[in-house]
Amino acid sequence: MFVHTSHSAKFFSLIIITPFLLLLSNSHALPLSSFPNVHFRSLNIPNNEHDIPHFRTLNRRRLHDCPSNNPYLQIIVNAVSPLPDEQYISVTVSGVTKPSDKYWVAMISPSHASVKYCPLHSLLYKETGDFSDLPLLCHYPVKAAYLKNDPEFLTCKKSECKKQGDGGKCMIKTCSASLTFHVINIRTDIEFVLFNNGFEAPCILNRTTPLKFANPNKPVYGHISSVDSEATSMRVTWVSGSNETQQVEYGNGKSVTSAAATFTQKDMCGGLVKSPAEDFGWHDPGYIHTAVITDLRPSEKFSYKYGSGAVGWSDDIEFRTPPAGGSDELTFLAFGDMGKAPRDSTVEHYIQPGSLSVVAAMADEVSTGKVDSIFHIGDISYATGFLVEWDYFLHLITPLASRLSYMTAIGNHERDYIDSGSVYITPDSGGECGVPYESYFQMPTSSKDKPWYSIEQGPVHFTVISTEHDWKLGSEQYKWMKSDMASVDRQRTPWLIFVGHRPMYTSAKSALISVDPVFVQFVEPLLLQNKVDLVLFGHVHNYERTCAMYRGKCMAKPMKDENGIDTYDNSNYTAPIQAVIGMAGFTLDNFSDKAPEWSLKRINKFGYTRIHATKEELKLEFVNSNTKKVEDSFRIMKT
Ligand SMILES: *[C@@H]1O[C@H](CO)[C@@H](O)[C@H](O)[C@H]1NC(C)=O
Ligand SMILES: *[C@@H]1O[C@H](CO)[C@@H](O)[C@H](O)[C@H]1NC(C)=O
Ligand SMILES: *[C@@H]1O[C@H](CO)[C@@H](O)[C@H](O)[C@H]1NC(C)=O
Ligand SMILES: *[C@@H]1O[C@H](CO)[C@@H](O)[C@H](O)[C@H]1NC(C)=O
Ligand SMILES: [Fe+2]
Repeated sequence: MFVHTSHSAKFFSLIIITPFLLLLSNSHALPLSSFPNVHFRSLNIPNNEHDIPHFRTLNRRRLHDCPSNNPYLQIIVNAVSPLPDEQYISVTVSGVTKPSDKYWVAMISPSHASVKYCPLHSLLYKETGDFSDLPLLCHYPVKAAYLKNDPEFLTCKKSECKKQGDGGKCMIKTCSASLTFHVINIRTDIEFVLFNNGFEAPCILNRTTPLKFANPNKPVYGHISSVDSEATSMRVTWVSGSNETQQVEYGNGKSVTSAAATFTQKDMCGGLVKSPAEDFGWHDPGYIHTAVITDLRPSEKFSYKYGSGAVGWSDDIEFRTPPAGGSDELTFLAFGDMGKAPRDSTVEHYIQPGSLSVVAAMADEVSTGKVDSIFHIGDISYATGFLVEWDYFLHLITPLASRLSYMTAIGNHERDYIDSGSVYITPDSGGECGVPYESYFQMPTSSKDKPWYSIEQGPVHFTVISTEHDWKLGSEQYKWMKSDMASVDRQRTPWLIFVGHRPMYTSAKSALISVDPVFVQFVEPLLLQNKVDLVLFGHVHNYERTCAMYRGKCMAKPMKDENGIDTYDNSNYTAPIQAVIGMAGFTLDNFSDKAPEWSLKRINKFGYTRIHATKEELKLEFVNSNTKKVEDSFRIMKT
């Protein structure tokens, strides 16, 4: 279990690493030999010429330039400026005289980003919980890929003869490789750079000329969220390189003007050492435009577009408002920990391998028209300080989030950082501290950095909290959730669903570090007192559903209905039913060998939940995103 075992490891390593970073943070120019005791992992790079002792390998690694006297080496792209908003660009490197697995290509942006060697960045990648091997450049590339990703490269299947000898024999043979990069409009110009020496000790061989996007101001990545429980107003949020006001045109000739905002490197948080968001992970977000469209009717389709004459318009998009709070029926999808993954074979910072299949399955379901809304309950993009990854995440969810209400809760990977006011002192947000999250996902909260709210759709009241902000007895959030849940009119919305990020119960192998007993101690009694029907959490990357439980014990178990489906009777309320639904993208977590008594179903597969509510029945289904099969379902009844 990746992230969570790392939490404790991180606490520990911070203590050790911090003084070390302090010493080195501004000292990239010092020769490494000044730090004889520093052991870099990359010391183990095999040397294919002679067996050089370690101390000499260390000296060799200080050579930043790749001395190359190869006159044939070329890097060519099959794209020219200006670039469209989305394109797959093929990058071909030719003229390689000796193919090796150390060559790689990075897509960098902006084109003047520093591509020098920054060895200490490996520690800063790891602070976000990403343990992949990533390129150690002074500015994180958008994407990178080894030439060996082309299966014909190492065996030189694509070869050219550069110099013919006597009798037609080839004297100099060179090899080439082609790589594909999925490029979306990130506003700043891009460049492809060829490196040698692997990710761990890169040096530059050649680079392309910069490529510009045709329209960096193009309004893109529109998504919609609820502003209240009436479903007569909705918030539309999108990204553009321009801060000039734009419009949403919708319905029959209605129009509303946007407000644009942005955030800068100074708004990111850090500690004694600069965080990725403040430093090498930064990418200019452009402007985030938002507008509230009004005079809608609940559960009704309408079309809209956003933009302006000056910057251009989005396509016409069809959207449906959710049902009004208090109405009879609701179908929504819910999941946590989705993130994103590249649509090409490149490496990006922090990849969530299940996200593409989950988004594809949900997009199919949304296109049937049967879904009213979506709840993504924390650990949203995992950009964690590598800001261009928000653009890629927003691009990924646009087919869903531009068509129905996409509601969110905050997770550790959006909010947590040392000395930033988060409950958990981990560096999991990479220095974002919730600022990008709150800019892109403006929920109906009371004010900045208080990301808790409630919303009603159909027969459901949702109480959405932040597990990353103080929830202790007497805290502002505690008082809010207590009064919010106490005020629910159960005639109007018979179902009360409590939503947060970190769970109270899990039988994953890492259970001890994923569950905070203090959180359970303070908040669980409120769930019982207010007769919460269903509790949804993420953070642990699997699906697990409990009996009606309190304080670690089953208070009631479901009965099988005539179709064999577990059915809980909440007419005779006993305790909340809890479900962990963090299985939407992040590498899955394993369960302990034996299920505890309270755990009724455990699935570690990628998927999402589909929840259907009427005033008498709440039905939850776990959908496997690869097969689209329902692998668990249960009903909660109320008369
Ligand atoms: C889960 O278990 C499988 C099989 O033992 C193992 O390959 C995998 O790495 C484990 N996953 C995690 C996240 O520990
Ligand atoms: C770099 O690539 C360009 C374009 O492919 C080529 O013209 C140039 O000769 C190359 N330079 C070096 C030093 O390899
Ligand atoms: C809009 O952006 C321009 C440059 O991009 C800047 O000079 C100007 O101050 C900005 N205006 C506002 C209101 O932010
Ligand atoms: C209500 O539930 C409790 C606990 O499961 C059980 O003991 C009791 O018999 C139930 N009452 C009714 C009327 O079903
Ligand atoms: Fe999490």
